[in-house]
Amino acid sequence: MPLVFPFDPDITRAATIPARLYNDPVYLELERERIFAGTWQLVGRREQLAQPGDFITAEVGNDSIAVVRDGDVLRGFHNVCLHRAGPVAHGCGRRQTLQCRYHGWTYSLSGALLRAPEMEGVEGFRPEEMRLRPVAVDAWGPLVFANLDGKASPLAEVLEDIPARVAPFHCESMRYVMRKEYDLACNWKVYVDNYLEGYHVPVVHPGLHRELDYDNYRVEPHRYYSLQHAPMRPVPAAQAAGDRRYVPAAGDVPEAFYVWIFPNVMLNVYMGQMQTNVVLPVAPDRTKVVFEWYATDPPADPAADARWSRLVAFSDEIQDEDIAICEAVQRNLRSRVYDRGRYSAKRENGVHHFHSLLHEFLT
Ligand code: FES
Ligand SMILES: [Fe+2]
Repeated sequence: MPLVFPFDPDITRAATIPARLYNDPVYLELERERIFAGTWQLVGRREQLAQPGDFITAEVGNDSIAVVRDGDVLRGFHNVCLHRAGPVAHGCGRRQTLQCRYHGWTYSLSGALLRAPEMEGVEGFRPEEMRLRPVAVDAWGPLVFANLDGKASPLAEVLEDIPARVAPFHCESMRYVMRKEYDLACNWKVYVDNYLEGYHVPVVHPGLHRELDYDNYRVEPHRYYSLQHAPMRPVPAAQAAGDRRYVPAAGDVPEAFYVWIFPNVMLNVYMGQMQTNVVLPVAPDRTKVVFEWYATDPPADPAADARWSRLVAFSDEIQDEDIAICEAVQRNLRSRVYDRGRYSAKRENGVHHFHSLLHEFLT
């Protein structure tokens, strides 16, 4: 079976990517190598790294990494001791050095090997030349990203004009509120495909559809990200206080800002709050999705805050609807009769854009 697959850059002629990309474990390995190791992955929050010595750990695919604050700079390392591969950091916290939990080799926050006990007499062993293997790290707003192979375009280039476009929302001053995790029985790309189009909104999300100006829903692809314009229906004043669950307040920026950054990060930005979604492949047919919420004025107790609970309940309703259809699609992608479909040129340009990036990175 060929690893390469045909792909037409013209959406009006293109067929969707073959079903085997959603089923065959060989593609997940290839994606880990060529996509997840080669792009910026969201690994943590800047507030976790506010003080010198603060560190976090994260899993990126099969690799464990640590990100530390060394003075003013953020540094990333593979969380793998040079001796016999013990972990040099656990969880998160604050430390002056990183000490391996196996035989106690100690590294500085810049990754240099400081101490390797009882290694006298070992030929050619020069601790002063040994360093933890680095990982590229960078941050934007409250978010910290890492790139395993160090070859991704600079984060600022990948984000392009996103920071300028979301400037009115002041994401950089938002603070962390809460997190939710979802386990899905589908390939990670099924979830991303689904996020990237509004085509399914009328059928899958009737509640959301009532609030959206569907005719004016559109997707704007950029080099490594795409932006969804999902304007809300204008609210008649008499109805504003009634049954609408999201009512833009006067003076609000009218549009929410939905952005997807290749391959697996979504930022949903609203006035006063923001949500990140990270889509993590677990197996060809298993995916973990992590939602994290941030707010300009975080509620003291999100569970006890009526406005916040309403917002999370609405998000849950949509997420449940998306999970059900994604899992049903994954089951059918194993069907003996299905291989490839066609795109709606009007509604699925975001999915076609994602697939063109997959094609670029995988072949
Ligand atoms: S594996 Fe780290 S000190 Fe031995
Ligand atoms: Fe959806």
